Amino acid sequence: MINGKFFAGEGETMKVCVFGANGYVGASVYQLLKETPDADVVGTYLENPAVFNDLDKLDINQPESFSAFYKQTQPDVVVWSVMNGPYEDELIHEGLTHLITHITPQTKLVYVSSDFVFTEGNGPYDEDAPMSKLPEDHKLSTYANAKVKAEYFISKELSNYVILRAGPIYGKNKIGKLDERTDQLKYQLRSGSTVAYRDDLIRTFVHIDDLANVVTEFVQNNVTGVYHAGPDKRYSFYEFMQQIAEQLGYHKDLVEKASEHEEADEEIPKNTSLKTEKIANVMKQTFR
Ligand SMILES: NC(=O)c1ccc[n+]([C@@H]2O[C@H](COP(=O)([O-])OP(=O)(O)OC[C@H]3O[C@@H](n4cnc5c(N)ncnc54)[C@H](OP(=O)(O)O)[C@@H]3O)[C@@H](O)[C@H]2O)c1
Repeated sequence: MINGKFFAGEGETMKVCVFGANGYVGASVYQLLKETPDADVVGTYLENPAVFNDLDKLDINQPESFSAFYKQTQPDVVVWSVMNGPYEDELIHEGLTHLITHITPQTKLVYVSSDFVFTEGNGPYDEDAPMSKLPEDHKLSTYANAKVKAEYFISKELSNYVILRAGPIYGKNKIGKLDERTDQLKYQLRSGSTVAYRDDLIRTFVHIDDLANVVTEFVQNNVTGVYHAGPDKRYSFYEFMQQIAEQLGYHKDLVEKASEHEEADEEIPKNTSLKTEKIANVMKQTFR
């Protein structure tokens, strides 16, 4: 029995809704769930051409269309893999609020969050570490602060949820899309340029396949709470992108160290890396 219902092998189908199924992470999760026996999956897109022909077009911020969609879908599990850069705040005040208003205690929410809830940048952080916000005039504040607000909101209003925090996600997803950073690196190396990344920004990098597998595992099991995704290794962007360059068949020295100078109001959190022992203890999935 999962989330109050009987699933795989017990004769009943689990209904899963992936919000953001058209995105980099969501497309992999959607594809994996489609391949999962006894899962009936629906997914949504918004503006970009739909990458699967059976996705539903939905603006999660529109209350009437959201309500109609949700009442018709009645999912057992919801995956939140939505992101909207400069409008992230609206996604929380509108979209996430609509979802929380409609969701029943039986329905599990798997919310994909970010290491940017730790804006002080003194990592590595475990799941119980206090979150922090950026000043409102900081260029990264909209996204980072919206993620913090979303997590507070979810943990206050719901009990049947997973908040899964991830650092930078990389690799080719299930429909062949590369993360933007690797795509850019590939483009520049191919055109003969050197590329520079900072050595003072430390992160826990997570492969898209491992992340999508772990989301799918959370969809199917009874585990709830806050978890950090990723391996126990941490790298600077410079170190990590040197490795990626080598994997792409280039010499690592084509990746150089970028300047660490920055304006005070544009400082990027230095070390947002994540301690990941907790997830390793409860999940089958391991991280490369
Ligand atoms: N990528 C990373 O490195 C990274 C790192 C840490 C955490 N995360 C988290 O992972 C999740 C997924 O990120 P991603 O990289 O896959 O982002 P993404 O590729 O930009 O995908 C986001 C999706 O959200 C959809 N969307 C945006 N606004 C919407 C709205 N108002 N209503 C309905 N759908 C809307 C978009 O639909 P359309 O494409 O149809 O416009 C898009 O498919 C997010 O929660 C993000 O915070 C990502």
